[in-house]
Amino acid sequence: MQRVRRRAWVTGGGSGVGAACALVLATGGHEVVVSGRRADRLDAVVAAVRATGGVAHALPLDVADPAAVAAAGAQLEADGGVDVLVAAAGLNARRRHWDDLDLAALDGIVSANLTGLAHCVAAVLPGMRQRGDGQVVAVSSRAAVVRSPGAGAAYRMSKTGAGQLVASLNDDLHGEGVRATHLCPGDIATAFVDARPVVPDDAARAVMLTPDDVARAVAFVVATPARVRVDELVISPSATP
Ligand SMILES: NC(=O)c1ccc[n+]([C@@H]2O[C@H](COP(=O)([O-])OP(=O)(O)OC[C@H]3O[C@@H](n4cnc5c(N)ncnc54)[C@H](OP(=O)(O)O)[C@@H]3O)[C@@H](O)[C@H]2O)c1
Repeated sequence: MQRVRRRAWVTGGGSGVGAACALVLATGGHEVVVSGRRADRLDAVVAAVRATGGVAHALPLDVADPAAVAAAGAQLEADGGVDVLVAAAGLNARRRHWDDLDLAALDGIVSANLTGLAHCVAAVLPGMRQRGDGQVVAVSSRAAVVRSPGAGAAYRMSKTGAGQLVASLNDDLHGEGVRATHLCPGDIATAFVDARPVVPDDAARAVMLTPDDVARAVAFVVATPARVRVDELVISPSATP
């Protein structure tokens, strides 16, 4: 199918950074497909995009379910493919340190943040390679590049792994028109920080990045010409040491 607009698939698109990315990319002319587990949140983002005149669709999905991800990728490919994957789906757990580690939660975090990311990439990569054009923006974390004890074991494992996943993509695919970015934001004022052992108060949230700050960085990466690859981008709240 011939598409008029470039298509962006945004996982974690029902809230926070993913929702902000969906809005900014749609405003920039992309058709956006938003995925996450909560269909009502996706529908709200689709409605918000459409209210601005943009084009959006919801594709409910658990990125930790490989069969569901493969089916979604096949559906998207049959419908014209994906030009940009913004992988923002991610989570952490309250019991994140070894004195009290929630092992079941560790599996879920790694499945969503790392292996889920790999499955999403694998679902769109053949089409990108075939067209010789594609971008992957993995919304990782500053915790992947700066020692961050507070992030906990599973999250640190998953996000440092995401960095290696992106590096492996760029190593394997250079020259094929497919580019990947390891985007590493510091603290962002979203529902995500509610899972911390000590939930930040309003004063702490006020100096964090906003989802729009991160979405602007994603839009910058996506808008770079094909000769440019942004391998890694770290964005910190300016109040952070
Ligand atoms: N907030 C921060 O301080 C911070 C800092 C650095 C990096 N990040 C990263 O930024 C990304 C976005 O987080 P956010 O801050 O915007 O928080 P958020 O609002 O909680 O967004 C996370 C999104 O991921 C989705 N998600 C979680 N598990 C999923 C799964 N198994 N399958 C599909 N979707 C899933 C959630 O939707 P459902 O629950 O509906 O599935 C949600 O929409 C995450 O990858 C996070 O690690 C956040």
